[in-house]
Amino acid sequence: MSIASVIFVCALVSVTDFGWSYQIKTVEELKNARGTLLSKEFYRSTGHNVTLDENEKIVNKIMMDLKYEEIRQGYLHPDNWVTSNPLSEVLDAINKSKLFGMIQSMPKGGILHAHDAALGSTKTFIKLTYAPHTWICFVDEDSVLFAFAKDYPKDKCSGKWKLMETLRKAGNFSDESLIGKFSIQTKTFENTKEVWKHFIKTFVNTDNLMEYKPNFEEYVRSFLKECLDDGVQYMEIRSGVPELFDIDGNMNTKEETIMLIQEILKEFKSKNPDFIDMKIIYGKNRRKSATKTLDYLNETLTLSKKFPELIIGFDLVNQEDEGYSLLEHAPLLLNQPLNYFFHAGETNWFGTTVDENLIDAVLLGTKRIGHGYALTKHPEIKEMVKLNDICVEISPISNKMLHYVKDLRNHPVASFIADDVPIVISSDDPSFFNTAPLSHDFYMTFVGIASAHSDLRFLKQLAINSIKYSGMSEDEKTIAHRVWSKKWNNWIMKTIEQHHKVHDFIAPFERK
Ligand SMILES: *[C@@H]1O[C@H](CO)[C@@H](O)[C@H](O)[C@H]1NC(C)=O
Ligand SMILES: *[C@@H]1O[C@H](CO)[C@@H](O)[C@H](O)[C@H]1NC(C)=O
Ligand SMILES: *[C@@H]1O[C@H](CO)[C@@H](O)[C@H](O)[C@H]1NC(C)=O
Ligand SMILES: *[C@@H]1O[C@H](CO)[C@@H](O)[C@H](O)[C@H]1NC(C)=O
Ligand SMILES: [Zn+2]
Repeated sequence: MSIASVIFVCALVSVTDFGWSYQIKTVEELKNARGTLLSKEFYRSTGHNVTLDENEKIVNKIMMDLKYEEIRQGYLHPDNWVTSNPLSEVLDAINKSKLFGMIQSMPKGGILHAHDAALGSTKTFIKLTYAPHTWICFVDEDSVLFAFAKDYPKDKCSGKWKLMETLRKAGNFSDESLIGKFSIQTKTFENTKEVWKHFIKTFVNTDNLMEYKPNFEEYVRSFLKECLDDGVQYMEIRSGVPELFDIDGNMNTKEETIMLIQEILKEFKSKNPDFIDMKIIYGKNRRKSATKTLDYLNETLTLSKKFPELIIGFDLVNQEDEGYSLLEHAPLLLNQPLNYFFHAGETNWFGTTVDENLIDAVLLGTKRIGHGYALTKHPEIKEMVKLNDICVEISPISNKMLHYVKDLRNHPVASFIADDVPIVISSDDPSFFNTAPLSHDFYMTFVGIASAHSDLRFLKQLAINSIKYSGMSEDEKTIAHRVWSKKWNNWIMKTIEQHHKVHDFIAPFERK
C-alpha cells in the first residue's frame, strides 16, 4: 500500500458536473475527475479552513512522514495495529511512538469532556493512599473502601479496617494491587453492560479517597499539573462538587469546596501563566428520581448564580442505557435558566429511548453533546447540529473501553470529520483507562480514525474548536486563544529545532 500525499495546491479546480451523462473516456480524465472529487471532499472536512504558515508546513511534513510510516507498518502488520488491539496491549508501543511524543507536546487547547473523579492518574490515586490515617477495607476482589480516622474508623466495612501504614510496614502490600481497583485496564470484559458494572465500582473505590479534604486539594493540584504537562491549557469538568470531610468527620458545604477549588486554581494559574482556566459543568447521576433531579437543578441554579465564572451549566451523567431518559425528566428540564451540556447518544441501541436522547438534547437547547455516538443514525438531528453549531464531544478511547466500538477505525466520528460536524476530542475518564489526560485520544483520532490525509490542519482545528465551543465568555475566549496561540507557535519553533538536531545526528550514517 502506498499513501500518495494528496496536495491540494489550488482551491476547487472547477465545479464539474458528474451526473449520469458524464462519461469518462481516458485515464487522464479519470485522474482529473478523481482529483477534483478528492479535493472537494477535503474542503468539506474538519481542518479545511486552516492555513499553515511556512514553519507549520515544516512541522506538518515531519508529522505526516511519521503518520504515513505508522499506517504503513500497521497495514503490513495488522496484528499490531493500535486501533484494533486491546488498549492495554498497545499502550507501551504508543508511548514510545515519535508521533505520539509530538502529539503529547502539542498544545491541544482544552478538554471539554472529562469527569473530575476520573482525571488524576492511577499514580496520583495511589499517592493519596499514603496520607497519614488512611484505612482500607477489602470488600471483595474488585472493591475496596477507604476511611480516614485517628483511631479505628466508624465507617461500615464488611471485613476489617486496616491501616495502610501498618500494611505497608508489614512488607506484604504492593501498590500494584491497587491498579485494578483504580482502573479498568487490567481486566477484560464481554460487553458494555459488564464493563460499566465494573467501571462504576472503580468510581466507588476512589470516592472517599478523593473526598478527604487534604487529599482533594492534592488531587486537584495534581490533575491540573498532569493536564498541563500533557499539553492541555483549559478544562471543563463534569463534577457533582463533592462535600469534603476532614479527619474528625466534619463535612464541608459545596460552596466551601468551590471556594477551595478557586483558591487552588488561582495559585496554579499564577504559577503557570500558560494555563488558561478550568470550569465546572454540574453533573449528577441520571439514575436518580425526579425529586432528586429537581434538587440538583436547584443546586446548580444557586451555585451558578453565586459562582458564574466557575459553574457554567448542568448535565446528567452515568450510564445512559440504565438511567432516566431526557424525555422522562423533560418536565423538570424545560424552562430552566441554565446552560445544558447533555451526555446523549452514548449507546448502540438504535431507536430506543436512550438513542433518542439525542433528539431531546438538541430540542432542550444543549450547548454541546457529550459523546453523540449515535448521531450518524439521525440525519435530521445531525443537520440541526451543524446548522446550530452544536459541538459534539468525542471520547474515542472511552467508547472503545466501554465496548461501544472494538476497532477505532469504525468509530462514527470518522464521518463527522469527513463532513466537518463541529467536534472536540476529549478523554472522559483517562484515569480509569490508564491514558494521558488527552494525548492518547488525540493520537488515536489522528492515526486511526481520521483520514490518512488529515494533517496538522485537522489537529490545529481541533485545538481551536476546544476554545471556540467552550463555555467561556467571548472575552475569555479571546484571551484563551491568545494564550494558546503563543504556546502553539513556541511548539512549532521547538519542533523544527529538535528535528534539525535529530537530523544532524542521523545524517552521517545516512551519507555512507
Ligand atoms: C476560518 O478561518 C478564519 C481565519 O482563521 C476565521 O476567521 C473564520 O472564523 C473561520 N471560519 C470558520 C467557519 O471556522
Ligand atoms: C503510557 O503512558 C501513560 C500516561 O502517559 C501511562 O499512564 C501508562 O502507564 C503508560 N503505559 C505503558 C504501558 O507504558
Ligand atoms: C501480611 O503479613 C501478615 C503478617 O506478616 C499476615 O498476617 C497477613 O495475612 C499478610 N497479608 C497478606 C495480604 O498477605
Ligand atoms: C429551590 O431552592 C430554593 C432556595 O434555595 C427553595 O426555596 C425552593 O423551594 C427550591 N425549589 C425546589 C423545587 O426544590
Ligand atoms: Zn462522560
